[in-house]
Amino acid sequence: MSPTTATSASIEIRAVRKLFGSGAGEVHAFGPSDLRIAPGEFVSLLGPSGCGKSTLMLMIAGLLERTDGEIFVNRDIVDAPRTDVGIMFQDSTLVPWRSVRGNVELQLELRGLDTAAYRDRIDDLLHSVHLDGFEDRSPYELSGGMQQRAALCQAIVHEPGTLLLDEPLGKLDAMTRERIRADLQDLWMRRRPTVVFVTHSIEEAIQLSTRICVITPRPGRIDHVIDVDLPWPRGLEVRRSDAFVSCLARIQEIFHGYGVL
Ligand SMILES: Nc1ncnc2c1ncn2[C@@H]1O[C@H](COP(=O)(O)OP(=O)(O)OP(=O)(O)O)[C@@H](O)[C@H]1O
Ligand SMILES: [Mg+2]
Repeated sequence: MSPTTATSASIEIRAVRKLFGSGAGEVHAFGPSDLRIAPGEFVSLLGPSGCGKSTLMLMIAGLLERTDGEIFVNRDIVDAPRTDVGIMFQDSTLVPWRSVRGNVELQLELRGLDTAAYRDRIDDLLHSVHLDGFEDRSPYELSGGMQQRAALCQAIVHEPGTLLLDEPLGKLDAMTRERIRADLQDLWMRRRPTVVFVTHSIEEAIQLSTRICVITPRPGRIDHVIDVDLPWPRGLEVRRSDAFVSCLARIQEIFHGYGVL
């Protein structure tokens, strides 16, 4: 198969709850919560450490069983790992025995796609995250931030209709972070995949999202879903606008109410 763009998926979360362990060791990690995400939305999950963001992402991807409730991707119930979504885990690791390019190609091979047909696209992607010249290096020869940029290429190379990105920019320095954030926004504007994005940065969530889910401290519940009504594209200058500042203040107020700010 040659490069294609999948259609963006809808995601529906119905009364989803997750408990880990049992008896005295039981941990109520998430929920119950509901959420409907329309095709092509960019939704951020924002909440304190341990509130279940990664747990929810893994359940959407079909990599972790729910305790209660249902999740649908494109109206299909999620009951097995999904191959139609692009995932970047919080601690994304590249396989050490493959080069940077080999790691990106692995994503294609796992899906039975023809890597040769994607050669130009992989070059473009690695160029866009400033990894030119490192295509044939091993992961151990890269810095943490460079590895994270390579992992982001791996998550998006097959242009999935749905992207689940768990703190994809967390290990980047401020300048690289802004550049990759702009690239991600550009990719989203051009292709309109459905994106679920985890971040600890309220500013980043406002800059990138159509909506923001504010999650309570553990056990995390989606407490507020906030529409972000700002024009696109949103560069750093948007942070000075009145609408941005009032959205930021509103979310800070909510976290202040939880006692986490
Ligand atoms: N495999 C697991 N077994 C037992 N408990 C787990 C497991 N994974 C997560 N938990 C617990 O579930 C809760 C939610 O964890 P999760 O990793 O989803 O939080 P998070 O919101 O992603 O936090 P962070 O912002 O620090 O990444 C935590 O209390 C954690 O200890
Ligand atoms: Mg997490």
